[in-house]
This record gives sequence, C-alpha cells and structure tokens, in this order.
Amino acid sequence: MAFGGLKRGEKILFGIFLAIGVFAVISFILMEVIRSRMDKPMYPTTTHYDFSAEGLKGSEYAREARCTSCHRILRSGTNMSLNLDGIGSRRSFDYLINFLKNPEATYSSKTIDHGLAPKEAAYVAELPEEQQHAIAVFLSELRADPGSAVARAPEGQSGFIDEMLKVWAPDTWKTEYKDVREDAKSEEGESK
Ligand code: HEC
Repeated sequence: MAFGGLKRGEKILFGIFLAIGVFAVISFILMEVIRSRMDKPMYPTTTHYDFSAEGLKGSEYAREARCTSCHRILRSGTNMSLNLDGIGSRRSFDYLINFLKNPEATYSSKTIDHGLAPKEAAYVAELPEEQQHAIAVFLSELRADPGSAVARAPEGQSGFIDEMLKVWAPDTWKTEYKDVREDAKSEEGESK
C-alpha cells in the first residue's frame, strides 16, 4: 500500500489537505453552475450610450490615459475613486471639459488626485486639447438609466427627504455638509 508507510499524524494531515482540495473543487463547480444560471450580470450596467464618432475616439483616449486605474467606466476600472458611469447625466459637457483642464477651479471641493503635480492625475490636465475634448464628449455621452444608482440626484423638493433630514440629521448638517440637491439645481441651467 502506498500510504502504508505513513505515520498516523501524516495520514491525518494528508486527509485534511485532501478534504480541503475536494471542498474547493466542489465549491468551484457549484459557483460556476450558479453563475451560468444567473440571468443578471454580476455588475449590472446602468449606463446607456450611443457614441458619436468623437465620443468613440474619446473612449480610446480615456483607455490610453488610464482613467480606469482610478475610475469605473462602463464595466471596466476600479472603485478607487468616483464612478464615472452615468456622469453625462450628472454633469454638463462644459463642466466636464472645464474639470479636465482646470480641475481645482472647477471641482466643488478640494481635489485629491486631479490638479497640479505632484497630484497623481495631474497629467490629465496636460493631455493635448484634442484628447481632452474627445474625452469630455465621451463622458457626456455616458447616460444613466433613470432611477439607477448612478443617475443624477433627485431634483426639486422631496417632502420625504426633508422629513428624514429633520428626524435623523443633526441641525449642523446644513453648515458642515454640502446639499448635493442644490448642486443639481444650479447645474441644471448649464446642461443641455
Ligand atoms: C490617480 C487617480 C485618478 C486618475 C488616474 C484619474 N482620476 Fe478622475 N478623479 C479622481 C478623483 C480622486 C476625483 C475626485 C476629485 C479629486 O479629488 O481629484 C476624480 C474626479 C474626476 C471627475 C469629476 C467628476 C465629478 O462629478 O465632478 C472627472 C470627470 C474625472 N475624474 C475624469 C477622469 C478622466 C477622464 C481621467 C483619465 C484621463 C481620470 N479622471 C483619471 C481620481 C483619478
């Protein structure tokens, strides 16, 4: 017998490894079966797009410029920073082009990565004008599905949200934090 020469402790150890191995294989098969039966994708795409020629070019520039090393755009990228899906529904084209060129002057609060060197995304402001323009077109064509998590913050008054704020938020919230709903309102004039 091949295992005959093993000590008791060794048999137990090999037994445990074998059990772990078998468990891993079974789990893998199960996961694959479950995944193949799911009709929804793991990361649902909540952005729709119909790119113009320049927008398509912009998507290539954005890929080459490694925007996805920080941002999530369509199904690729990371969650290190803001999700740019649906950004075209939240920001106007003018905002986007201004942000790419002059992030510190455009962003509503202090920037972390965009801006002047040595900030990590400083190179974005230095990209050739033609590329910035195409990228801004690309971003403005990423439209959010209405009601999805990447859609624009609800506009107008919501009695429900006001009531919730009154009940749950400390009185100081209005001075210490920004009301994104007011952002949406003031941007409305700019967007096309
Ligand atoms: C090193 C990480 C990093 C890289 C690379 C990066 N970004 Fe950003 N981006 C951020 C962060 C962080 C913010 C939030 C503003 C800030 O703190 O700089 C941001 C904000 C933005 C915004 C503003 C969103 C809004 O709602 O105001 C846009 C648009 C944007 N990035 C586009 C791009 C594009 C296009 C590229 C590639 C050409 C890119 N970013 C590359 C980290 C990055």
